[in-house]
Amino acid sequence: MAMVSYTRMADMTEADLRLINADADSDARELPGRLMNAVAELERFQGPLKVSRLEHSLQSATRASRAGKDKEYVAAALLHDIGDALAPHSHGDMVAAVLRPFVSERVC
Ligand SMILES: [Fe+2]
Repeated sequence: MAMVSYTRMADMTEADLRLINADADSDARELPGRLMNAVAELERFQGPLKVSRLEHSLQSATRASRAGKDKEYVAAALLHDIGDALAPHSHGDMVAAVLRPFVSERVC
């Protein structure tokens, strides 16, 4: 993989900036896959509950879909707990920050 030429921001070149932007674009294209991996990871969390967080998330999205909610709402229902392990007291805010560029403020 190509690397930037600088160690101090003041030494960054135009070529470095193009390289960084291309990498950011690549990261953005891979976001859906990372989000689905985060949903799959919810299988590991269940605690004393009768269903895992994965099952809970699938139930939430299924119920939203059956209730006629739009795709943004269903996606948010599926993803709503992906931040629970890292932000147990503010995971709703965490996933809202992830979704904000892609969905309406109402869904966030
Ligand atoms: Fe939940």
